[in-house]
Amino acid sequence: MIVLIGFMGAGKTTVGGLLAQHLGMPFVDSDAVIEAAEGLAVREIFATRGEAEFRRVEAATITRLMSGPDVVLAVGGGALTTAAVRAALAGHQVVLLDVAFEEALERVAADPGRPMLHQPDLSGLYDRRQDGYREAARVAVPVSGRSPREVVADVLAALGMDGVGE
Ligand code: S3P
Repeated sequence: MIVLIGFMGAGKTTVGGLLAQHLGMPFVDSDAVIEAAEGLAVREIFATRGEAEFRRVEAATITRLMSGPDVVLAVGGGALTTAAVRAALAGHQVVLLDVAFEEALERVAADPGRPMLHQPDLSGLYDRRQDGYREAARVAVPVSGRSPREVVADVLAALGMDGVGE
């Protein structure tokens, strides 16, 4: 199991897809699993049921995925705010895609599908999440100014998996 974490706009879905392809593993995005299971977009779950309920569904989804078959798993940028998610990820190959706040904003600015973007103190949210990301991650890979392919190579090197899948 390789788990990609990081703030919105870090590139978890893009890098995760490429990494999985390279390793010949399935790629799973926790938000996509939630949307398929609930029959609602993440934005709609936030709007109709609220963030707390989204976090409950998210934690249950990630916990279940972590006890299933090996995949490359990208989890939503706020998943680690739930203790059950932190516990489910402990001991696994957790990779932080470390994006600078300004670059994250440029990448996802005005995306209507990301409800957390609309909260008033976004840079405060970014700052408050950094310790949690770093505590959960086995390795951190900087992504600012780097292409998805470069990031994949850096992730493989950081995990000591260079050469795997080539
Ligand atoms: C969230 C990030 C989103 C999604 C939801 C909440 C957050 O995932 O799970 O909108 O709290 O940061 P991405 O990090 O893939 O955008």
